[in-house]
Formats: sequence, structure tokens, C-alpha cells
Amino acid sequence: MSPDDSLQEEYFDEKFEEEDPWSFRSSSYEQEKYRRQTRVAEERLTDVDRILEFGCAEGAHSEMLLDRFPDAELLGIDVAEDAVERARESVGEERAEFIAGDAVERVDEFGGGFDLVVWSETIYYMGNQLSVPEMNEYIQTVFDLMTDGGLVVMANIIGQEGSEEDRLTRPEVLDAYYGMLGAHGEEVSREVFVEAKSESGETHEYEIRAFRA
Ligand SMILES: C[S@@+](CC[C@H](N)C(=O)[O-])C[C@H]1O[C@@H](n2cnc3c(N)ncnc32)[C@H](O)[C@@H]1O
Repeated sequence: MSPDDSLQEEYFDEKFEEEDPWSFRSSSYEQEKYRRQTRVAEERLTDVDRILEFGCAEGAHSEMLLDRFPDAELLGIDVAEDAVERARESVGEERAEFIAGDAVERVDEFGGGFDLVVWSETIYYMGNQLSVPEMNEYIQTVFDLMTDGGLVVMANIIGQEGSEEDRLTRPEVLDAYYGMLGAHGEEVSREVFVEAKSESGETHEYEIRAFRA
């Protein structure tokens, strides 16, 4: 079975023709998810100089991270060009750099020394582009870019019935990523949340996990 091409670059370019297509800024559900991930990092890291954010979109989570880690530089990457342009405009901080591009293809440009990698609701799209061995190697590459004791923090929705993303977010698929992350790093935190989005009233289940390099 080939990867689902419909959920790659063009899909995100189209999504971001509209501003904030997933209500990242206005949704209390999304904001709470960012706060929870940020808290997991704050509780476990003392010095944070460099942050890598996968799938930074329009910079809503980036802003929170820059606020909570005032001495840190942040590198955000997102495949959707319009989203990255909006992130650059709205964040407007010298400490933040945003790359428009595919995180798989551009990994050699990231540099190293990341104390914190935030990988929120993005790993399953990247996994959809890669074979299992390629994903495993990619995860190793990410850990190689981190400082000793650094942290990967991620949130992933579990299943999305009726949506195109459902097959990418089945628990058994996510478990494969967690297995690889746990093999290259050490799992240090795992929490599950079930919450309704006030905009739609729909209930979603998501997990926040953290892995130590
Ligand atoms: C569901 S959004 C999540 C945004 C944000 N991180 C959050 O948690 O709310 C997924 C984001 O990942 C980006 N994305 C998907 N595949 C990517 C890839 N290969 N490289 C970089 N960004 C990617 C999309 O453009 C989109 O902005």
C-alpha cells in the first residue's frame, strides 16, 4: 500500500489558504493542549537554549514556547508556506526562525544542540511519507540533534473517525512511533486526555508523551 498522497504538501497548502484553519489560536482545546505540552517540558528541563518545533503552522504554539522559555531560540519548520509566512509575521521575535519546507528533506539544515523538540500533531503526517525503517532512522537523526538529557514532547490525537487522518492516527500506528521513540530515547511521561472542542462539541482523545534523549 502506498502512502496517502492526499495528506501531503498540497493538502496543507490548500488548508492554509484559509487563515488558522484548525483554530490553533482561538480554540481553548488547542491552547490547553499546547499548555500541557509546554508544562511537561518546563517540569523536566532546567536550561533550554534551543527548541525545535515540527509542524509549527502559524506559530501559535511557538509564541507560548518563546514566552515560557525566555532565553531560548526556536527553530520552527512547516511544509505550508503560507503558514510559515504568518508565523514569521505574528511571532516577529529575533529568537525565532521559521523554515518553510518538508522537515524530512530539510533535516540537514537544522543544526544541533536542541534541548527541546516539540512534535505536536505532526509525526503521523511525516510517518505517512516514510517507510517504517526510514521513520526509525529519522527518529534516530532527531535524537542525534539533541543535547544529552534533552526532551521530545508530543501530542497526538488518537483516531479521528470520519476524517482523512483517521488511518494515520489509529492507536496501533501511533504505538509504532512511540516504540521507535522509546528505543532511541527513554519515555518519561505519558498522559491521555479526553476533551470536547467547544467550537464543534466533538469529543477527542489525545495523548501527550515525552522522551528523554
Ligand atoms: C495538525 S497540524 C499541527 C500544528 C501544531 N503543531 C499543533 O499541534 O497544533 C500539522 C502541521 O504539520 C505540518 N506538516 C505536515 N507534514 C510536514 C512535514 N513533512 N514537514 C513539515 N511540516 C509538516 C502541516 O503543514 C501542519 O501545519
